[in-house]
Amino acid sequence: MTTNDQQVAIIMGTRPEAIKLAGLARVLGERGRVIHTGQHYDATMWSNVLGDLAGVGVDEHIAIGGRSRGEQIGLAPSEITRYLMENPVRAVVVQGDTNSTLAGGLAASSLGIPVVHVEAGLRSHDRRMPEELNRILVDAVSDLCCAPIGGNAEQLASEGVQADRIVVTGNTLADALENLAVDDAEMAELLASRGVEKDGYVLSTLHRAGAVDDRETLTALITALAGLAEKVPVLLPLHPRTAGNLDKWGMRDLLGRITVLEPLGPREFMALEQGAALIVSDSGGVQEEACFFRRPLVVVRDSTERPELLDGWCRLLGDADPVPTLAQAWEDAEQWRASLQDRPLPYGMHSASRLIADEIDRRWPESAS
Ligand code: UD1
Ligand code: UDP
Repeated sequence: MTTNDQQVAIIMGTRPEAIKLAGLARVLGERGRVIHTGQHYDATMWSNVLGDLAGVGVDEHIAIGGRSRGEQIGLAPSEITRYLMENPVRAVVVQGDTNSTLAGGLAASSLGIPVVHVEAGLRSHDRRMPEELNRILVDAVSDLCCAPIGGNAEQLASEGVQADRIVVTGNTLADALENLAVDDAEMAELLASRGVEKDGYVLSTLHRAGAVDDRETLTALITALAGLAEKVPVLLPLHPRTAGNLDKWGMRDLLGRITVLEPLGPREFMALEQGAALIVSDSGGVQEEACFFRRPLVVVRDSTERPELLDGWCRLLGDADPVPTLAQAWEDAEQWRASLQDRPLPYGMHSASRLIADEIDRRWPESAS
């Protein structure tokens, strides 16, 4: 593709960034340029994900995958800087809280290129999480902080971010859901192919360092899920980080009757979310999707950067024993789901991607020449 300095660079490294920036890439079309840091690189974590996302192609690849956090945030900024110096753009967009997000923000700001942070202002207030530090650092270097909801904008203001650097845009996930929706027939087919029935199974994902890098914590979570699997089908698409730790610690036997799957494409995964009686996850994006799909969720963490979901949309596991907590959540699941059906959604369903693109054009317009 031809590059020009009137384009907007969209930097993405991991599966959730691709999913949440696909709408913006579509809106910008030829006026956007996608740079993949390579943080996620397996087919199941990247090319299959992109395959589901219409209108997103990668224009530049960088390879930082499989390295430590320090190496990723050391190497990626210098690689992105080199690329942007050779191929200037009028603004750089990053999303969320990953090492790639921070790397993109650092590279662009060091070159004086306007930085746009999509999903700004989220805070778990848990500084043990690398994601929390990434969020704080990237908001600090961003010229435009796109806050999904008013509470995120208030958080930024309370940290001293000037009002003209903040805009409330809504959540770009709404665009992804629209693009990835399946109809009832396709949904029935997908569930049947996994051997489950609507409202009759549990869907789980685990990948955060706090949940899967500590052997004892991972053992407790897998034991609890295996306990549920004695009563109801439990589907567990395994993130490679978690798969690696289960193998390293020889823990596969603990999985019992859990149906272990490869990471799924977002289209299938979201269909499975919509049919699940209960979701159990440490994921950020899954918290929002469970809410959009009005499905009960146990967040297997002790904090969330999405406190708007704590009034009934999800339950935090905290430091409770996962075995009785998940068993209770399963008992409550039907009633809990019923209680979610008529509640107003905290995020709204308008196109945040369009709004973000318009805001970029207004602040940093393409020059006439
Ligand atoms: C990263 C993000 C996390 C996000 C998640 C989305 C950071 C600090 N973490 O976590 O916020 O929720 O992505 O899924 O940026 N691996 C593979 N193949 C892959 C990708 C990873 O084998 O395609 C393995 C490698 O051993 C790697 C490990 O998983 O070292 C962890 O990957 P990494 O990208 O560092 O972090 P995630 O756990 O994916
Ligand atoms: N997802 C997916 N396949 C899976 C599991 C999750 O496509 O097997 C999607 C999910 O729908 C959500 C996103 O990945 O949009 C969440 O990514 P993840 O949990 O890896 O990261 P986080 O949101 O916690 O940063």
